[in-house]
Amino acid sequence: MKVLLIGGGGREHALGWKIAQSPVLSKLYLAPGSPGLNHIGEALTIAEGDVSALVQFSQDNHVDLVVIGPEAQLAAGLGDALREAGVACFGPDKAAAKLETSKSFMKEVCAASDAPTAAYGKFTQSAEAKAFLREQNAPYVIKADGLAAGKGVVIAESLSDADAAVDEMLDGQFGEASAAIVIEEFMRGEEASFFAITDGERILPMIAAQDHKRAFDGDKGPNTGGMGAYSPAPVFTNTVYERTMRTIIEPVVAEMAQRGTPFQGVLYAGLMIEDEQPRLVEFNVRFGDPECQIMMRLLKSDFLPVLYAAATNSLSGHKLDWSQDAAALVVMANDGYPGAYKKGSEIKGVDAANEVEGVVAFHAGTKQSDGALLANGGRVLNVTATGPTIRDAIRRAYTGVEKIDWPQGFYRRDIGWRALEKTSETS
Ligand code: AMP
Ligand code: GLY
Repeated sequence: MKVLLIGGGGREHALGWKIAQSPVLSKLYLAPGSPGLNHIGEALTIAEGDVSALVQFSQDNHVDLVVIGPEAQLAAGLGDALREAGVACFGPDKAAAKLETSKSFMKEVCAASDAPTAAYGKFTQSAEAKAFLREQNAPYVIKADGLAAGKGVVIAESLSDADAAVDEMLDGQFGEASAAIVIEEFMRGEEASFFAITDGERILPMIAAQDHKRAFDGDKGPNTGGMGAYSPAPVFTNTVYERTMRTIIEPVVAEMAQRGTPFQGVLYAGLMIEDEQPRLVEFNVRFGDPECQIMMRLLKSDFLPVLYAAATNSLSGHKLDWSQDAAALVVMANDGYPGAYKKGSEIKGVDAANEVEGVVAFHAGTKQSDGALLANGGRVLNVTATGPTIRDAIRRAYTGVEKIDWPQGFYRRDIGWRALEKTSETS
């Protein structure tokens, strides 16, 4: 099978790493590829956003399956264009990607399918938004309706901060994405991410993971795309799993099909869990980054036939086998991230990290230049490790991190603290 993988971050390195292990793979094309991926596939010179060139290439080269990593390409309609051209593609159409690209659409679908989520209001006028805020209690949750690269959520402790966020967003802070805003009830509990693959009708559950969104130890500092992750997540008990499937994933997949916009790809449910009751914080319409890297390390089954089956409406009969091990991931980020950072500092020791038992270091934002590996993004490396317990996995991941010589990088030293606390409670 010939596969084209779209995207070049840590998530895509992990997907490509897993796909490359498939006995049914004959050729892997990459757009744009990355220093981690380029030795397992052929990097194309086509930009990941060039929809018509990607469709043309797929047709000309008889690509059997295109796997789309990033949401931006799904939102841009790459899935629609490929399917129209008769190319199988893992990832939803633009209409189904609205579950991620419009918070108010996600809320409407939840209401129609009775899926538990925070109460909300949608606003385009500041006065109405502020009046609604005055009917809520602190903390106040204000969100840009559209895609804002993970930065469109403000949780304000005071009414004056909440009012300021409303004004900034409606004044065009995120352009079109904040022309409308959503104000939500604040949900308490512990967060986890759960993933399910669907062909639009049938559902193949994956596993849950937890990530660390804040930049610094102790869950302090600014929000980031995620500084680390681990699985299993102790908060995601069997009861939570069953409730998530029955009250969120199954009814939402059915609702999308009934609307004539079936969701095909991976549905990522960001959950808030309190007393074993999951409620939906957000949907994403692609794999989580860095959660995907953890899942690829724990997945024992050949993944490529499953991705292809989801893309071709033939998921029945497929299953996924998971390792009983635990996995942990530590993000090595560039100094300054998630704010401004410098590109181009040299990284050494990735090979040595990969030699540590259980460790695989994925490239999230690197560049190869004259034989040297350089930092080329905010989140730069994802050091993953598996082990018989979460404690082992975390220890191995940090042993890997310590092999890496990159003075301009930083990382959190407390990845997995919640899981470790729970493990020590029960042991
Ligand atoms: P989102 O981009 O919608 O996932 O929001 C980013 C983060 O803000 C989430 O991961 C939560 O930590 C937090 N958050 C968003 N909405 C709520 C809510 N209604 N109640 C509590 N926390 C929230
Ligand atoms: N880990 C958060 C995300 O992928 O959106």
